[in-house]
Amino acid sequence: MSSFAPFDARLRFKECGLSQSGAPGISNDNKPEVGSNDLNEGPSMSIFRPYPVQYVSRWKTKQGEEILVRPIRPEDEPMMVKFHATLSDQTVYLRYFHMEKLSTRVAHERLVQKCFVEYDREMALVAERTPPDTGQPEIIAVGRLTKSKSDDEAELAVLVSDRYQRHGLGAELVRRLIQVGRDQKLREIVANILPENYAMRALADRFGFKMRASDDPTIVVAVLNLSGE
Ligand SMILES: CC(C)(COP(=O)(O)OP(=O)(O)OC[C@H]1O[C@@H](n2cnc3c(N)ncnc32)[C@H](O)[C@@H]1OP(=O)(O)O)[C@@H](O)C(=O)NCCC(=O)NCCS
Repeated sequence: MSSFAPFDARLRFKECGLSQSGAPGISNDNKPEVGSNDLNEGPSMSIFRPYPVQYVSRWKTKQGEEILVRPIRPEDEPMMVKFHATLSDQTVYLRYFHMEKLSTRVAHERLVQKCFVEYDREMALVAERTPPDTGQPEIIAVGRLTKSKSDDEAELAVLVSDRYQRHGLGAELVRRLIQVGRDQKLREIVANILPENYAMRALADRFGFKMRASDDPTIVVAVLNLSGE
């Protein structure tokens, strides 16, 4: 069975084996730090979940700000609470197709599921920035690729904090999630979009998604076919 986490035991992180910035150890040349967290040093995150380090790397926004893009992890829950607090009603509506209260979005039971990802069914990438004045990392965008019942199709969704929209983050997360889909030899990636969501429609169009008729007239379905590649 295909998996979102082709896993090399040499790349395991200790459960709390993260750099001081709170990010998984990565070197300046954007490569994961291999071997710095030996399995014998302590409990490994991989005992519970293999962490897909191959999807960790730095990237610069259009504004030149350095961002870390990496798969989500269970310890991200407090940062996800803060991230949700930054979202406008409009952004929430466009993502969830209805108003979802902040208290519902940040409920522990929900966020545990969102952060404790089964990487063989789902890939969630977060964009993390570390403001120089506080040194405290914060999540400013999340992209998710979730397999549907069939193993070769997945749904894509992206959510960018209002203050950081139009910085190129949405496009970068979509680009990376498409690559994850390719790695997994998915047949197609689907995005359900509200018709009035011109930003997401433009983004889908840019990456070659085609609009498909939907049974639900309130939703536009964008489909990226990967099978012919
Ligand atoms: C849709 C969304 C993910 C786009 O992310 P983003 O980081 O703001 O987008 P980017 O900066 O990467 O923009 C990429 C391209 O998308 C299009 N785009 C983005 N925002 C747009 C807007 N407000 N109006 C029109 N086009 C827009 C443009 O073509 C843009 O390229 P350009 O800036 O070179 O013109 C983001 O606006 C968002 O989170 N919206 C609310 C939640 C949502 O709609 N999620 C999608 C559910 S599937």
